Parts: sequence; structure tokens; C-alpha cells
Amino acid sequence: MSATLDQLKHRFTQALVAAFGNNYAEVDPILVPASNPKFGDYQSNVALSLSKQLKQPARAIAEQITDKLDVADICEPPSIAGPGFINLLLKTEYLETQLRSSQTDPRLGIALAKTPKQVVVDFSSPNIAKEMHVGHLRSTIIGDCIARILEFRGHDVLRLNHVGDWGTQFGMLIAYLREAYPDALTTANALELGDLVAFYRKAKQRFDEDETFRETARQEVVKLQAGVEDTQKAWRLLCEQSRREFQVIYDLLNVHLTERGESFYNPLLAAVVEDLDRQGLLVEDAGAKCVFLEGFTNKEGDPLPLIVQKSDSGYNYATTDLAALRYRIKQDQAERLIYITDAGQANHFAQVFQVARRAGWIPSNVEIVHVPFGLVLGEDGKKLKTRSGETVRLKDLLDEAIARSRADLESRLKAEDRSETEEFKAKVSQAVGISAVKYADLSQNRTSNYIFSYDKMLALQGNTAPYMLYAYVRIQGISRKGQIDFEQLGSEAQIFLHEPTEFTLAKHLLQLSEILSGVEQDLMPNRLCQYLFELSQKFNQFYDQCPVLQAEEPTRTSRLLLCDLTARTLQLGLSLLGISVVERM
Ligand code: ARG
Repeated sequence: MSATLDQLKHRFTQALVAAFGNNYAEVDPILVPASNPKFGDYQSNVALSLSKQLKQPARAIAEQITDKLDVADICEPPSIAGPGFINLLLKTEYLETQLRSSQTDPRLGIALAKTPKQVVVDFSSPNIAKEMHVGHLRSTIIGDCIARILEFRGHDVLRLNHVGDWGTQFGMLIAYLREAYPDALTTANALELGDLVAFYRKAKQRFDEDETFRETARQEVVKLQAGVEDTQKAWRLLCEQSRREFQVIYDLLNVHLTERGESFYNPLLAAVVEDLDRQGLLVEDAGAKCVFLEGFTNKEGDPLPLIVQKSDSGYNYATTDLAALRYRIKQDQAERLIYITDAGQANHFAQVFQVARRAGWIPSNVEIVHVPFGLVLGEDGKKLKTRSGETVRLKDLLDEAIARSRADLESRLKAEDRSETEEFKAKVSQAVGISAVKYADLSQNRTSNYIFSYDKMLALQGNTAPYMLYAYVRIQGISRKGQIDFEQLGSEAQIFLHEPTEFTLAKHLLQLSEILSGVEQDLMPNRLCQYLFELSQKFNQFYDQCPVLQAEEPTRTSRLLLCDLTARTLQLGLSLLGISVVERM
């Protein structure tokens, strides 16, 4: 229905011009979905907003607008309410026509973006040889969803994994690799280091306790930067090992990314600093090269610096992000850059973006956004930990969700006296478990912290993945029983609206387009979850009030079509969240 809203806005503009002249062509008609269905479907406050300017009572303005407003093909005659609100109610025939076009369209009537953009979504981005933690999981889930929505709208999306694969910590890791696995670099076979996190811990321990080791580590850093082959090979082995561990998680989540780690931008870092210098932005402060920031001050009120080259001449996280930003704009031709990390990095990005802007690296057609999210907390409201107090490993966390979903499934099967194959059980519990984790994350307003609770996310009731998946299964079941071949029915198939719950459901179905363009703008996936949740509730109300299979023709076919469109809308919406439906569960 975003098409509807756009059309109505256009008609309002025409009416404003006809009533008050060309100066009113740019006035926003302030047309929004009605807050309460008793006011109709849309409401405009424009008359109230023009009252001062036109020196007329709002009601009189509203009358002049509605006199000129030509919406007879879309709405019932507009009504004026209260001090001058204009209320619009969509016509039944109009709704039926809209439903018909979504129903015959594999995209369910969702238009492609008028001007598709080149978009970079930077998400997931764990660090080599370190733990991929719940923060990275959130970034992965939110990033994948945003990428899916933008892709569906027809944008060209580059999904970048900005892995932390560079930095001085590699000196100690390589030194430790040589010490603990002396054969590693000579054997042709891939290395089995086991748990890389434990490896990191041991390397760090050696680094902290032994000065000779520290010296070796420092030399390895120098050799790595100088491109000494043997050291590079050790670095590649470590990256490869981490990559394999990350891939296990990506496979489970069914998320695809293009890896372009920090090391990729190495050759471009010097030019970043040179360019900032050339533009007079660079200041040397205690041996470090930095840019003093506007709007970021210390306690004394003095501007804070963003360091781009340390006093030991090394570069840092910010330098790499500046180089990456330039590369994405120049080489990737990105017009929209989206960075998905925890809110803790908000300052980092604000600072990097400011420096890039002041350096003139961001053309006016390019939009750069940081998409922050809150922390993942345990049920005690504190940082998520295992029972023994350690950080939770992602693989364990996902496996646990699958195991619990399996236990739920088994007990349901028992209660229903159903027997299913092992294959079915494995497939359903994996799908439900993973979906539950994703949906629990996405259905929260991402800017707030969220409490990770297996019980809540796996509940069959409430705004959860199992509830949504079950709603889909149930509606599909009704359709199947209806035994109508919609494809064969072709253009004969038409939805007719009579009952109030049919209207409510139909109008909601037609709002997906508006919701998706909203999420495309504000990058808030919880709005799509909320939409889908309400959709299944509205379906339930309809199914409660309106017999489907027992209804007489042509109502029966019409209602079955409404069921089918609901199921397809759920399936599409969930797929944009990265959740695939199951046919039975
Ligand atoms: N590796 C970073 C971390 O684990 C996230 C990187 C986010 N992307 C970026 N371009 N800085 O915190």
C-alpha cells in the first residue's frame, strides 16, 4: 500500500495547488495511517498546519481541500473531523483490486526501489584468533536481515565481513605458533590448533611472563609488516583456522558474507595519513599524528584527538576504517554505507565519519550510517555467561537452542501421539532453534539491551519464532484442506471482502510494502517482526469469526485465497528476517 499512500499524497498536493495556488505544491500533506480504525484508514492534519499561514480556521481549509480532492477511485468521500482532520476510508473495490494484484505477483505487490543503490553493509566482523561473541552474533543477525531487505528492494548489496585480521597481537600469536607447533609451517596439511581461543590465551600468557618471548613477538610483527614469507605463512594459517571456526556459525545461521578484513586496507593506510596532512587536518601531538575533533571534548573542555598514526608509526583501527570508507566510496562506488556494531562503537564511527567528511571524502550523494545495537544480557540482567561463569561460545549457544527446541518437539509429538522420522525431527528442531535465536534478537528494538532467554524465545505463544512458524503451518494446513489449485484458478481467483475481520486482515496484508520501505529507511527490523506478529493475530481473529472450509462458494474460494495470501506474506516476511518456514512442525 505504499503505492496507495504515495498516490494519496500526490492527490493531496494537486488539491492544495488547486485550492491555494502553486506556492502550496511543496507543502507536506501530513498524511499518515489513521491512529484508530474508526477514523478510517488514513488521516491528514494539513489543514491544521496551514491555519496560521492562511489566517483561516482549519475546518474551512479542510473543506476547501476536500472540495478539490479527487480520490473517488481510491476512497469513500473524505470526511472532516474535529478541528479539521481529513479522514479517508479506502473503498472496498479498491482494496479488492490491490489484493488481486498482490496475489498474482510473486513479489506480493512489493515494488522495487525506484533508484536502486550500491550499498555496503559492514557486519558480523569478528576478530581472528579471538572469540566470536554474542555481540558479533547480533551484528550477524541484524546485518543479514538488513541486507536481505535491501536486496529484496532491488539494491546492489555488498555484504562485507571486516574481520580483525591485523595488528600487533599477531606477533605474539606467531611467536607462540612457532614455539608450540614447530612443524606447523613445514607440514603441508592444514593445521589443527584446536581451540583458537585457548591458543590465544596461552600465547598471551607467554607474552606476559617472558621478556625473550616478547622480543620474538615484536620481531614477528616487523617481519609480518615487511612481508617476510615465512611469517606471512604463519599468519595465513592462523586466519585460515579462525575462518573455519567462523564458517561453522555462518553455516548454521545460513548467512553469507564476503570477507574483506582489515589487512586488505594495509597498502592504503599511508595515503590516508598523507591526504589528511595535505588538507591541513593533521596535528602532531606527543609524537602521534592526529586530527582534532569538533564536538568531542575531554573533561577540561579541550577538543579530543583522533589518532591516525601512533608515535611508533603504527596505524590503528580508525586509520583502517578511514581507508575502508574511502575504498568503499571510490572503488566499490557505494552510495550507502551501513555499519552494524554494538552501541559501544558509536563514538568511534562518529569520529571516523567526521574526519572523512572534513577531508571531503564523502560526496553529497553518499549516505553513511552507523547502526548501533545494545548488549545481550543473561536472564539475571548481567552480561551473558555460562553457568560456570565463562563467556558463552556461540557454537554452544546455538547448539543449546537446537537441543531445547528438539526437547520441546519430542514432548509435543508424545502428547499428540505422533511419530516422525529422525530426519524430520532433526530438520524441524534445527530450523526452530535457529529461528528462535534470530527472531528474539530482531524483534527487539535493536538500540536496547536484550535478555537472552531460551524459555522465552522458544515459547509457542507470544511474539516468538515458534509462534510465527506455527501460524504459517496452520494456515498452510487450511489451504491444503481447501484443495484449491490457485494457479489453475488463475485470474478467476478473487478475494471479496464482507466481514469486518476480513477487512482488517486484508488492509494489514496490503501494508507490507509500507513497512518494508520504512525498514529500508530506518533500519529497524523489529518493525517487520511486529508487523508479522500482528498479521498472525489478525488472521486468527478472521479465522475465529469467518468459516473458511465450510463456507459457501464463492466465499469459500475468496477466504481460501485470503489464507493463501496470508501464508505467503508470512513466508516472505520471515525470509527477509533470515528465517525459513517449515511445512509441518
Ligand atoms: N572487529 C570489530 C569488533 O570485533 C568490528 C568491526 C566493525 N566494522 C568496522 N568497519 N569497524 O569489534
